[in-house]
Amino acid sequence: MKIRYNGFAFILAFLMTSTLYAGEGMWLPQLLKALNEGDMQTMGMKMTAEDIYSVNKGSLKDAIVHFNGGCTSEIISAQGLLLTNHHCGYSQIQSHSSLEKNYLKDGFWAKDLKGELKNPGLSATLIARIDDVTDQVLKGVTDGMTPKERQSAIDINLEAVKQSTKKEAYQDITIRPFFKGNQYFLFVTITYTDVRLVGTPPESIGKFGSDTDNWVWPRHTGDFALFRIYAGKDNLPADYSEDNQPYNPKHFLPISLDGIEEGDFSMVFGFPGRTDEYLPSYAVEQIVDVLNPAKIEVRDQALKIVGTAMRSDEGTRLKYASKFARIANYWKKWIGEKQGLESTDAVGKKKRFETQFNDRAKKSTDFRAASTLLPEFEKLYKANESYALSRDYYNEIARRNIELMTVASYHERLIRTFKDNGEPGYNNFKGRLSNFLQGFYKNYDASIDQDVFAKLMELYVNKIPIDALKTPVKEHMKKMGTRDYKAFAKAIYGASMLTDKNKIDELYAMEPHLAVEALSKDPLIQLNSDMSAAYSEHVTPSLNANQDKINELQRKYMKAIIDLFPKRKFFPDANGTLRVTYGKVNGYQPRDAVNYLPVTYLSGVAEKYVPGDYEFDVPKKLMDLYESKDYGQYADNGKMPVCFIGSNHTTGGNSGSPAIDAHGNLIGLNFDRVWEGTMSDISYDSSICRNIMVDARYILFIVDKFAGADHLIKEMKLVHPKKK
Ligand code: ARG
Ligand code: GLU
Repeated sequence: MKIRYNGFAFILAFLMTSTLYAGEGMWLPQLLKALNEGDMQTMGMKMTAEDIYSVNKGSLKDAIVHFNGGCTSEIISAQGLLLTNHHCGYSQIQSHSSLEKNYLKDGFWAKDLKGELKNPGLSATLIARIDDVTDQVLKGVTDGMTPKERQSAIDINLEAVKQSTKKEAYQDITIRPFFKGNQYFLFVTITYTDVRLVGTPPESIGKFGSDTDNWVWPRHTGDFALFRIYAGKDNLPADYSEDNQPYNPKHFLPISLDGIEEGDFSMVFGFPGRTDEYLPSYAVEQIVDVLNPAKIEVRDQALKIVGTAMRSDEGTRLKYASKFARIANYWKKWIGEKQGLESTDAVGKKKRFETQFNDRAKKSTDFRAASTLLPEFEKLYKANESYALSRDYYNEIARRNIELMTVASYHERLIRTFKDNGEPGYNNFKGRLSNFLQGFYKNYDASIDQDVFAKLMELYVNKIPIDALKTPVKEHMKKMGTRDYKAFAKAIYGASMLTDKNKIDELYAMEPHLAVEALSKDPLIQLNSDMSAAYSEHVTPSLNANQDKINELQRKYMKAIIDLFPKRKFFPDANGTLRVTYGKVNGYQPRDAVNYLPVTYLSGVAEKYVPGDYEFDVPKKLMDLYESKDYGQYADNGKMPVCFIGSNHTTGGNSGSPAIDAHGNLIGLNFDRVWEGTMSDISYDSSICRNIMVDARYILFIVDKFAGADHLIKEMKLVHPKKK
C-alpha cells in the first residue's frame, strides 16, 4: 500500500513539475532562441525569440529601459513616453512637491511637452547589444590558480576586452559575471540623462493600501507614473536643454485594450536585482532558522516603537511615513520569505537535489571531486554562522534602525576625512553632509529615536553572538554610570550634539580643527566608532575570508550542477541585468480552503475605501467614476480591472517592468509579489509564487477618465490583439 502510494505521488510530482514549473527562471534575452522559444510558444506565445531580442532590427528589448539603475521602465510611444511605478518615481515626484503644489497628494499631469518637469540626476539606460565574452575573460585562467591569481588574471582580461570592443562614443560598456563567474557577458548600453516627469496619479491611487497592502494579494494599487526621455537633435543622449526633443525609440510597446484572463501567456521583461537560487541547503537553513529571524526581530522592535508614535500623533506620522515604509518593506518580505521557505519545504527540496547531485558526481569521471563540495559548504556555513549573524545584527542595529547611529558614522567619516585630506576634503564632505542633514532633521524626532536606541542596544548586548562586540557598549554604559538601557539612552542622547540641528549648525560654522575636536568628544560618535572598530577587528576579516571561500565553492558547485544535469535548463541568478521571465495569468491557494482569483476590480477599491484614512482613502472623483461606471473603452464586461497576478518569476528591480502578452503588447505593469511567495528569490515554487501587476487598462483609465490627460492617450498605440 505504502509503496504504491509513494510511487503514485512520485509520478504525480513529476507530472506537476513539468507543467507547473513553467514560471520559474529569469532568462537571458540573447539566449531565448536556444533555450526558451519552444517552451514559450507552447505556453501560448505568438512571437519569435528574434521579436524579443535582436541586434539587427527593432525588437521588444529596445523599449525596455533601466530606470535610474534600480527599477525598470518601458517606452510606450514614438515620443519616448516612459512608464514605470509610482514607487520608482517617488523621490522625483517628491522633489517637485511643496505645500502649495503637492504632487504626491494631488497628482500631476503636464498639459504639454513644455509643462514636463526635469529631474537632474535621473538616468534612463537602454541596451544596444549583449555579447558572450566568456572565452576572452577566462583566457589563461586555470583550475590550479588560487582565487587571488584567478581574479587578477580575469581583471587583466576584462580590461583588454573593454579596450578592444567596438562601440560608439555615446555608448558605454559593462561586463558582468554570470553563473557565479562561470560565464561573462558584455553589455553595450546607451544612457539618457534628460528624463522628465510627465504625470502621476495622487498617492492615494499610486500607493493605495500603503504598508498594510504591501506584498499582499488581493491588491488594488495604481502603482504607476509617466516620464519622458529627451534626446539631442540627433536622437542621442544629451544633457538637459530646452532644445532637446522627445526621444524617438527603435521600438515602443503598443497597449492591449483586450485585457487578460486566467491562463493567458504573460512575460515580464526587465532588470531583476538579486536572487540566490543556487544556495546549498545549509545556507537556506541558516536563512530560515537564524538570519531572517534575527533581522525580523530587530525591525519588529523598531517598527513597534515608531508605529506607536505615528499612531498617536499626526505630525509624527507625516515625518515617519516614508522611513516606516522602507523599514517595513523588507521586514514584511523576510517574514513571508521564511514562511514560504518552510511551507514549501525548500530545505528538503534542496537536500533531495543534493543527494542526486552527489550520486551523479560519484558516478562521473570528470566530476568525482564535486562530491566533496557539499560537505565543504556545510563546514563553512557552520563556521561562518556567528559572523554572519553578527553582521546582520550589527547592520540592522548600528547601521539601519537607530537613525542617529547613521548620523554618527557620517561624522566619524568627517573626522577621518579631515585627518586624511585636510581642510579641502573636510569642507567638501561637510557640504554634502549638510545637504543630507537638512532633510534628515526635518523628519527626525530624537525622543522616538532614543527609545529605539534603548531597545535595540539591549537586544544587541543580549543577542549578538560574539562577546567582543558587546564590550564597547558595556564600557560606554559604565562610563555613563548606568546598567539600565533606558537611562543609558537618555544620558547619551542628552549629551550628544547630534540630536540638535542648531548645535550642528554652530559646529559647522566653527573652524575645521575646532569642529573636529568637538566632534571627537561626542559620546555617540565615540560609541559608534568603538562599536565599528570592534566589528572591523572581530568580524570583518573572518567574514570576508569565509565569503571568499564560499564564492569559490559556489562557482565550482554551479559548474558541476550544469555539467551533471545536462538535460536541465539553468538560468543565472539575477544581477541587475536584462532578463525575460514568462508564465501565465494565474490565481493561487494561499492556505487551506482559500482560493485567490487572479484579477481585482475597482469594486474592491470601493470595498477597502476608508474616507480620511492614510492608507485607504481615495479621491472622490475616483469613487464618482465608480458609481457612474464611467469606464469608457477600458472596461471589461462592464467592470474596471485594477490588478492581476501571474506565475512570472520576478524580484526587486523588476518594479516598473512591462507585463507583455503573447503578441508583444503591454498588458500590465509589474510592481510587487505576493507575500506567500516572496521566497522565490531563494526557491521558486509554482504553487504560491506570483508577481503582481497593475492592469494596463486601469492605467489608461486613470490617465484618461480620472486625470483628463487624453493628449497622452492619443500618443499611445492602443490595440485589440484578441479581436482580430
Ligand atoms: N513591495 C514592493 C517592492 O519592493 C513595493 C514597495 C513600495 N511600497 C511600500 N508600501 N513600501 O519593493
Ligand atoms: N517592489 C519591488 C521593486 O521595487 C518589486 C517587488 C519584488 O521584489 O518582486 O522592485
